[in-house]
Amino acid sequence: MRAHQRPVRVVVAGAGVFGRHHLRVLRELETAGLGTALVAAVEPDPVRAREAAAQFAIPVFAGIEELLAANLNPDAACVAVPTVHHHAVASALLAAGLDLLVEKPLAASLAEADDLIRRAEEKKRILQPGHLERFNPAVLAVEPQLTRPMFFEAHRLSVFTPRSLDVDVVLDLMIHDLDIVLAFARSPVREVRAVGLPILSPKVDIANVRVEFESGCVANFTASRVSTERVRKLRFFAPRQYVSIDYARRDVLVIRIDSAPAGPAPGLSFHKPEVTPAEPLRLEILSFLESVRTRRPPKVTALEGRAALALALDIQSVMAAHAQRAGLADFFRS
Ligand SMILES: NC(=O)c1ccc[n+]([C@@H]2O[C@H](COP(=O)([O-])OP(=O)(O)OC[C@H]3O[C@@H](n4cnc5c(N)ncnc54)[C@H](O)[C@@H]3O)[C@@H](O)[C@H]2O)c1
Repeated sequence: MRAHQRPVRVVVAGAGVFGRHHLRVLRELETAGLGTALVAAVEPDPVRAREAAAQFAIPVFAGIEELLAANLNPDAACVAVPTVHHHAVASALLAAGLDLLVEKPLAASLAEADDLIRRAEEKKRILQPGHLERFNPAVLAVEPQLTRPMFFEAHRLSVFTPRSLDVDVVLDLMIHDLDIVLAFARSPVREVRAVGLPILSPKVDIANVRVEFESGCVANFTASRVSTERVRKLRFFAPRQYVSIDYARRDVLVIRIDSAPAGPAPGLSFHKPEVTPAEPLRLEILSFLESVRTRRPPKVTALEGRAALALALDIQSVMAAHAQRAGLADFFRS
């Protein structure tokens, strides 16, 4: 931030589990003089509202209308309300002229996502979907290593918590990997095959998906929110290259096959790209604030958020068709 620039005034909508992280990071950036001021939050739950007000010493309003009536002149907002409320909250904030970082998935339906994109364009506002893993230092370290990935294997397993149950595991967890693979594969989707089952919630809790791209690239995704272990890994193969990313450990391994002109066997070279340690949410919010200041498009655009959502919704309909074929409709209602 240049000396003459005033800090970007940010509010957080939703002081739940993830909204608290936004509040914490914004306060850390404010304290470090990194160009932001945390001015308020919106949280309808009175207990959470009181806790956030006390912890961050900010006014916490019960709704967007109350926030806007308070004339605090916010420039931007982080939206961390349940996905089913993203559209209502984000559209009200866009109407008030705020730039937005909206948690993933961008919205609950394509119609809602398109409406937010249209409103943001009309108002010339930044609309960044919160695809956090793009800012994972391990992913950032892999970007320069990308060649021509043709086969992806993504695993994202977590233990059950009664959160984000307004959506299924595809919109809750798999969407992170869908976004990363779409960004790495850079090809339109040709075909989706998918199976998903509800286990502990009424919605799909575990899913396995195969996506084939027009380029011929294939990606397998497994996501579970009812696992006994926590795994967040992406492995992919390109001709003569293997890359393994452990999102949680923020660790990357690249293996290359170098042609060995003299010997019968090709040589393997192991490479661990340097991963600069940093909290992904801090990098994501810093990147958002940079877009707010410079008016340049965000690193993750709203159209990319829409593409990840479109693929997630396709997967849901393929899973529903599979459930019909397999006679699992009763299982889904139980
Ligand atoms: N990027 C990530 O890795 C990541 C991780 C977890 C959650 N998320 C996303 O963050 C969002 C919130 O998830 P969470 O786990 O914090 O949920 P949560 O239920 O813990 O918190 C949501 C909060 O929003 C509040 N809320 C509901 N309606 C509101 C409204 N109209 N205005 C303001 N606040 C409202 C609720 O009272 C609740 O406190 C979801 O979209 C989820 O997908 C992202």
